[in-house]
Amino acid sequence: MPSPNELLARFRAHFDVWVGDSYNDAFVSRFYDNFFAQSHEIAERFAATNMSMQKTMLHDSLHDLRDFTTDETARRNLQGVAAQHDQAHANIPPRLYDLWLDSLIATLKDFDPDFDQLTERAWREALAPGIALMKGAYKNNGCGVTKMGGAES
Ligand code: HEM
Repeated sequence: MPSPNELLARFRAHFDVWVGDSYNDAFVSRFYDNFFAQSHEIAERFAATNMSMQKTMLHDSLHDLRDFTTDETARRNLQGVAAQHDQAHANIPPRLYDLWLDSLIATLKDFDPDFDQLTERAWREALAPGIALMKGAYKNNGCGVTKMGGAES
């Protein structure tokens, strides 16, 4: 059984290969294809969106999602994104984040023929705190998130 540190190292190495530092249009475009295919409800929300801008912002926010427990700037950025998605703004209910993460995993599988269960677990565990922050911000209208994420009681 891999240790938490081994899982994190596996996630970070895989992230560098498939997301990377520079914007990868093929990867992010495939992510949105997969995400929109999940339901009309999702595709409809982006009907009026400038997708080329959206895709580069998504690339950047993947980095914030990766780094937000360790980096203050990433944490602030992700809190801003969470506030934009909360009930009072884009009104994205928590259940849609599960489809978002499933779409990201599906995209990784599309690109990486060696993507296995352990790598999937590494991704899901590494992104869980950031996803929890996004979900937790929904009813709190972007507020009420503690310093390193999670809803305040
Ligand atoms: C952790 C998961 C997510 C991340 C990191 C993320 C990231 C982003 C970012 C960076 C933006 C652009 C914000 C800006 O304009 O400055 C955005 C906008 C948006 N996101 Fe998300 N998002 C996530 C989940 C979702 C989910 C689950 C939905 C559900 C449909 C969603 C729907 C939208 C919509 C509708 C917009 C606004 C598009 C527009 O301005 O027309 N997002 N997202």
